[in-house]
Parts: sequence; C-alpha cells; structure tokens
Amino acid sequence: MSHEVVVREAAGAQQEALATLEASSFDIPWSADAIRALLDDGLTRAWVAVVAGAVVGAALVRVVAGEGELLRIAVHPEARRQGIAHALLGVVLSASADACPLGIHLEVRASNVAARHLYARQGFIDHGRRRDYYQAPKEDAILMHWRPAGTRGPRV
Ligand SMILES: CC(C)(COP(=O)(O)OP(=O)(O)OC[C@H]1O[C@@H](n2cnc3c(N)ncnc32)[C@H](O)[C@@H]1OP(=O)(O)O)[C@@H](O)C(=O)NCCC(=O)NCCS
Repeated sequence: MSHEVVVREAAGAQQEALATLEASSFDIPWSADAIRALLDDGLTRAWVAVVAGAVVGAALVRVVAGEGELLRIAVHPEARRQGIAHALLGVVLSASADACPLGIHLEVRASNVAARHLYARQGFIDHGRRRDYYQAPKEDAILMHWRPAGTRGPRV
C-alpha cells in the first residue's frame, strides 16, 4: 500500500462515513442513525482506519460490566487484504484492554473465513457454536473470545 493507515477513535461527525462503509460490507447494514444511537448510549466506542483522508475501515465495541463485545468490523471491499483490519483490530484491542478485564467476545458466521482468520491472528479463540444463529442464509455462529494479556482463559 502506498499510503499510511491511521487508526483513531471515530469523531462525532463520522456516522455517515461509518454508514457508507456498512453499506459496502454487510447485507443488512446499520444506518447512520442507528450508529449514532449506539455511540450515544455511553457503552459503545468506534474506531476508524483512514487512508489518504478516507475512512476505509471501522470497528465498534460495546462494553458492559468489564466485558466487551466486538459488534462490527469492516474494511471497504477495495481496501481489503492489505492488513487494514489487522491494524485496526490491534488498536481496538489495546485501547479496550483496561475497560475489558473480562475480555472481548464476538459471534461470527461459520463461513466467514476472512473474519475468523483475522480474529484468530489477533488472539481470539473459539469457545462455542450457536446452531442456526443467523438467518438468510441460516448458519451457525462461532463464538470467539479474547483476553487481555495477563488474564486467564475464557469463561465458558
Ligand atoms: C473481515 C475483514 C474485516 C478483513 O479485512 P482485511 O482488511 O481484508 O483483513 P486483513 O488484510 O487485515 O487480514 C487480516 C488477516 O485475515 C486474513 N484474511 C483476510 N481476508 C481473508 C480471506 N478472504 N480469506 C482468508 N484469509 C483472509 C489475512 O490473510 C490476514 O491474515 P494473515 O496476517 O495471516 O495474512 C473484511 O474481509 C470485511 O470487511 N469483511 C466484510 C465484513 C465482515 O464480515 N466483518 C466481520 C463480521 S462483523
């Protein structure tokens, strides 16, 4: 990649950029209003990956009672396979560690090879499966969990 990737916490006015990214990456994208409501709940933080001034990636984490949930991570289709999600998730995990002593969990479609590989590379481990969790198409969810360094394994 010719341009540097900058990862930073999303600013208040970036919901539209996040919604545009959602539309490029998910079958059922979240709207700017839905993202704004999430970011206003006081529990959710968002980070963006910016290349040459454009938002090309984003991640959202919700923290409740010392445990986080990675709600979303996406990179624009034209910017994938360049290490952007890896860089983004690395920053998200470092920035969330103090607030998440119980770790961060997520669900991912069993067929989402790219995301599962990304999560595993960042230290998430599989710790369960929810049968037929997703609809359209119906598919199992894989449950994954990450713990900050120095803490013990996942609660199962
Ligand atoms: C999952 C996603 C965020 C990965 O973004 P990315 O910027 O292309 O990922 P990276 O280039 O940082 O790659 C991270 C790791 O995943 C691997 N990976 C990425 N895409 C892959 C693919 N299609 N197949 C296999 N491995 C893949 C990379 O090889 C890399 O591993 P490595 O370091 O061992 O080489 C991106 O594909 C995406 O936005 N998908 C749609 C949204 C989505 O499914 N989000 C997850 C559920 S919320």
